Amino acid sequence: MSGQDELEKLESEALAAIGAAADMRALDAVRVKYLGKKGLVSAQMKGLGALPPEERKERGRLLNELRGALEQAIAERRAALEKQALEEKLAKERVDVTLPARPEEEGAVHPVSHVWEEVVEIFADLGFSVAEGPHIETDWYNFEALNIPPEHPARQEHDTFYFHEKADGTRKLLRTHTSPVQIHTMEAQQPPIRIIAPGRTFRCDSDQTHTPMFHQVEALVIDRDTHMGHLKWTLEEFCKAFFETENVKMRFRASHFPFTEPSMEVDINCSWEGGQVKVGEGDDWLEILGSGMVHPNVLRAGGLDPDEWQGFAFGIGLDRLAMLKYGIPDLRAFFESDIRWLRHYGFSALQIPTLSGGLSA
Ligand code: PHE
Repeated sequence: MSGQDELEKLESEALAAIGAAADMRALDAVRVKYLGKKGLVSAQMKGLGALPPEERKERGRLLNELRGALEQAIAERRAALEKQALEEKLAKERVDVTLPARPEEEGAVHPVSHVWEEVVEIFADLGFSVAEGPHIETDWYNFEALNIPPEHPARQEHDTFYFHEKADGTRKLLRTHTSPVQIHTMEAQQPPIRIIAPGRTFRCDSDQTHTPMFHQVEALVIDRDTHMGHLKWTLEEFCKAFFETENVKMRFRASHFPFTEPSMEVDINCSWEGGQVKVGEGDDWLEILGSGMVHPNVLRAGGLDPDEWQGFAFGIGLDRLAMLKYGIPDLRAFFESDIRWLRHYGFSALQIPTLSGGLSA
């Protein structure tokens, strides 16, 4: 076979192989076989040196032409394969926009969770951060450190759930309020303190406005000259923001808590007409929070000097807030896990409360 015939045969074989390459890998294998460093065309190139000069020139030209032709054929094949792959991908990933929408999601965010987020949003805006404490507490944190000694009558009012007594005579309990977080916070950080602590609380009690598990938000502010005026202003600002109106009627009632002095309770004006609660109407009042100036004994229990530091605290009933704001008459229904109730009173997971975008929007 003449040198030229030989090259033509090589070319037609290579072109056939390129045309038959079904994917990029196969194509690359063909490229390596012919044009790679140790490929067939390269081997021919290497043989040029052994030829007499006049033959070498002609054959070199032919070989360069061959290489050019193969490179071009490979590039074309590659483009064709890429196009084909893209078309397959497009066909496979096609979205039929005329299909009906997916069915609505079944779940909903519980009103208490939503109100929890609303409250956090409002207090964050006022410069508070969120603190936490355990559900299972010791007597010290739930009572003693809060100025409620063992024989204090306030213990009876708390209807405490106790755990079994341990060998050393102590017994743990489910916290009856979020106030123990006041002590944990004083232990964990130095004043000035400005925290809220939303969470679950437990008391052995059940009727239309009480459930054995409920939710509170504790607030604690401690600084050198924090006073009752700050407390009252904070509560008023909170209520206006939360109920999204300037006209919430609040009633500040002198009260008593062992851990605050002086103490006051705050009621919100509402009506219960026709089995519905409405805020700012009628002449009923629903107690939503207890508050006061932190008792010196509590500051001491938290390791602070009452001659140097003072502050206020309050505990809001989160579930009560949810009832009032969203007109939900019976607290017990909150915890019955009835999906119809949740569908009616719940919130979409996408409704995240913000002060700028609206809390309950
Ligand atoms: N811990 C009190 C309760 O559960 C509420 C409260 C908190 C009162 C802080 C005063 C200060 O009723």
